[in-house]
Amino acid sequence: MTNSLEHTLLESPAVLIDLDLLDRHLRAAAERAKAHGIRLRPHTKTHKSVWIAGEQLRYGAGGITVAKLGEAEVMAAAGISDILIAFPLYGTAKMKRLGKLLETCQITVSVDHLKIAEGISELGVSLGRRIPLYVDVDTGLGRCGLAPGEPTAELAAQISLLPGVEIVGLMTHSGHAYSCETEADLRQAARHEAESLLYSQTLLREKGIEVPELSVGSTPTSFFPEEQQGVTEMRPGAYVFGDRSQFILGLIDRKEVAMTVKATVISMPRPGVAIIDAGSKTFSSDLNRKLPGYGEWVENPEVYVERLSEEHGNLHVPEGVQLEIGQELSFIPNHCCTVTNLQDQLFGVRKGRLERMINVDARGKIR
Ligand SMILES: Cc1ncc(COP(=O)(O)O)c(C=O)c1O
Repeated sequence: MTNSLEHTLLESPAVLIDLDLLDRHLRAAAERAKAHGIRLRPHTKTHKSVWIAGEQLRYGAGGITVAKLGEAEVMAAAGISDILIAFPLYGTAKMKRLGKLLETCQITVSVDHLKIAEGISELGVSLGRRIPLYVDVDTGLGRCGLAPGEPTAELAAQISLLPGVEIVGLMTHSGHAYSCETEADLRQAARHEAESLLYSQTLLREKGIEVPELSVGSTPTSFFPEEQQGVTEMRPGAYVFGDRSQFILGLIDRKEVAMTVKATVISMPRPGVAIIDAGSKTFSSDLNRKLPGYGEWVENPEVYVERLSEEHGNLHVPEGVQLEIGQELSFIPNHCCTVTNLQDQLFGVRKGRLERMINVDARGKIR
């Protein structure tokens, strides 16, 4: 450890990653996928880090997922050669960038509308190739994707007639699994994801269209691959760090969350009021409907971040808890992905000592 690293660590607010826990999560997800013959294509929007993406590939991931072209550009520039952009890409500027990316690596895109597929196909024709794509299916989140079954099969049949694309798979994201209450609900969500894609694949086969890849993905359902027979790929993202949304679901233990936000008590203007030096620009404004506040103290979950301004966090301090000015506290945030995107760098610690800085290389790449 160098002095400059040590010096940086002294300052708060800072987002710390426990490297032993990170390693454990990377390994466990890779093993879960492998044991069930499913390719792990992790979503890198959680960490946006070239180094962590490299670790995921080292543990056996078969390619990565990103949401945005900008993220893909960062990962491709770092030498990652197989990338799924799980987001509809539309417009001339985006097609130009996609064309450039296709020169250097294998890119698959996702679509849920003929018009988007037509744009991709035009690019494919101009490049003299068929661009691989997944058709996105809605299995309960209510975001992108048509309903499984006939609506998806009809769309896929229309897309299959386009000359510049090739449908290589169906995909879905079961973000709604975060609302599950019990393990039985989680298992049901995992089964539903898989069955919906398998059913759609069968209808497509009846229309003479083979789609080999079935890609599912969310951290909650990735813990139950035994419920997902027949799928070929999973795309969890947030599993790498963990957060409150994951331990409240029972996916991991509270002690296994690798990400903590270190903050300092910087104001105690009235009795019962304590304010830390981290606000919405550190914690993000993401709430969890099952838990109060924006983050909880590692030592005592009854102390939580109750209110945020941009740079200040008002703590909920129950009676009997004594805090003092200058006290450093570590908090578990609600949602690790949005916290990462607010940082240039994360602090990688092992056994309480700073070991490495983790650059958030694709921070802010929202285009
Ligand atoms: C398309 C897609 N796939 C996979 C994921 C990863 O899910 P999670 O955040 O639960 O790890 C996301 C998350 O937003 C997503 O949008």
